[in-house]
Amino acid sequence: MRVRPLNNIARLISRCAENPRAHWISPGWTLSPSRYSTSAVEKPYYVTSPIFYVNAAPHIGHLYTLVVTDVLKRYHASKGRKAILCTGTDEHGMKIQQAAQKADQDVRTFCNENSKSFDNLAKRAEIQYDHFIRTSEPDHRFAVQHFWIMLKERGYIYTSKHEGWYSVSDEAFYPQSGIHLALDPSTGRKFMASRETGKEVEWSSEVNYHFRLSSMRDRLLQHYKDNPDFVQPSMRMQDVVRYVEAGLSDLSVSRPVERLSWGIPVPDDPSQTIYVWLDALINYLTKANYPFQIPGQEHAAGWPADVHVIGKDIVRFHCVYWPAFLLALDLPLPKQIMTHSHWTLGREKMSKSTGNVVNPFFALDRFGSDTMRYYLIHDGRAKDDSSYDNKYIIDRYKRLQGSLGNLVTRVTRGRGWDVRRAVAYGQLDDSIDGKKHVEVLKELPVMVDHCMAQLQPDRALKKVIEVVNQTNQYMQQASPWTLASPTDQHGRPKPVPPIVDLPKLDPIIYLCAESIRICAILLQPVMPGRMKHVLDLMGVREERRMFRDAGIGTDNEFGVPMVEVGKGRTGVVFPQLRSEF
Ligand code: MSP
Repeated sequence: MRVRPLNNIARLISRCAENPRAHWISPGWTLSPSRYSTSAVEKPYYVTSPIFYVNAAPHIGHLYTLVVTDVLKRYHASKGRKAILCTGTDEHGMKIQQAAQKADQDVRTFCNENSKSFDNLAKRAEIQYDHFIRTSEPDHRFAVQHFWIMLKERGYIYTSKHEGWYSVSDEAFYPQSGIHLALDPSTGRKFMASRETGKEVEWSSEVNYHFRLSSMRDRLLQHYKDNPDFVQPSMRMQDVVRYVEAGLSDLSVSRPVERLSWGIPVPDDPSQTIYVWLDALINYLTKANYPFQIPGQEHAAGWPADVHVIGKDIVRFHCVYWPAFLLALDLPLPKQIMTHSHWTLGREKMSKSTGNVVNPFFALDRFGSDTMRYYLIHDGRAKDDSSYDNKYIIDRYKRLQGSLGNLVTRVTRGRGWDVRRAVAYGQLDDSIDGKKHVEVLKELPVMVDHCMAQLQPDRALKKVIEVVNQTNQYMQQASPWTLASPTDQHGRPKPVPPIVDLPKLDPIIYLCAESIRICAILLQPVMPGRMKHVLDLMGVREERRMFRDAGIGTDNEFGVPMVEVGKGRTGVVFPQLRSEF
């Protein structure tokens, strides 16, 4: 394929409708995409969630994806790195256009309202996002049109007649081999549907623009070979490789404006609207300051993304089309794509198009944000689908009450010892059990770091909970109350009060307190609110709650509670669930 020289770019860009950045375009820089250089500015960690279609209200699947990205962001921030999280809404395309028509609403008003509910969800779940992009915003339109012009100038886009099956629900074309005749059992209606997704397709025959995806096969395969961890988990990487090896057809990347008017117009051709997936994928670049017009600042806003988190239904778009578009422009590719499975309800995929969904706001109101975050990370899976059920949420919560809640209560409210004194004394229990437990604690941050590097927050979480359970067992065996208290566990005076053996008692309490401190620091990305409470109870200063502080003996100043060691429902870390009353 002939790659055309880069000419006319500045002229075309300045013609992009509503170009909000036209006044600071540096033609020299825009003319040379290959000048994307390594720069001295430290690249922040950059994680993205998919942007959500606004054709219906959010559900638990969306909340899950958001929580995963937020856990990754908070984790990397806790390691002292600037971390950026980008989420938002996908507002163009036939699907949205039709949904607005059906709702009898002006499409912009429709998007404004529905976008707000995703933003509210993110806020309600304490997602610390840095950008909430809306693809209907002018900045994004500029980035997409710029990207298009670059593809065109490089000879990757051409016009031709396209005939095929289009699914509005999937916003995707399918070849003849990808469709079959399906039957709706409830109505007896027969229709043509995608074999892959089961969604209805309609025949379309039109002239539109195509992207030379077929020419990218070898470069894509080379990239997968050089970066075997590009897609996580590895089984999906293998699927992607097989898909590309089988050969790629060119991709239709625009629709005639008579069919699709709600979208970004093709630059210099208002008769065509840019395909919604090309438009949507570029969102990741828009907020990273594409087209990188300030030399030396190319990485400053995070590009290349460290990880795109996506559900398994949108793998082809992210792992084949997206890298192909970027490779065509010699732009750096995202480092990794983390794919996850779906949440099901009654064995069916939760999906807004079928209405089989759980309202995440109700769940957050009922169980609280930290409990939901914990449940979703604990039960969410990369490979297999997870079944959503309130009874599992309650079960996971009760286990937390019995493990971490119980441990914190035992240590902070224990009679006959003083956590601060034990910390100041600074000696760890050197009995066999004590030494074993110290080793477990030393190993924990290493394991957590390993799991997080492998993009397995569920495993990281379970490792910490395992150590919490081991701490409870250790404490039970060491029985500090037999060494300290003039009363028994129930507060009744012992017949013969023991002589308090501080040199033996304090090292046990210190080890238990260290366990809580370290576990709570490591659990912060998943349960920021509850872990703040635990760390406040343990008297750990705000600035000593980073990942580097999760080492044994790194903080000898904690131990004086910063909040009242509470009683009753509100004063404890994991109070009874409201729904249990
Ligand atoms: N707009 C596209 C994404 C464009 S990204 C450039 C889209 N939107 S979506 O609203 O349909 O889905 C958003 C995310 O939610 C996707 O990652 C999808 O996989 C995920 N989920 C949708 N249903 C889900 C479950 N039932 N369970 C888990 N995640 C699911 O696709």
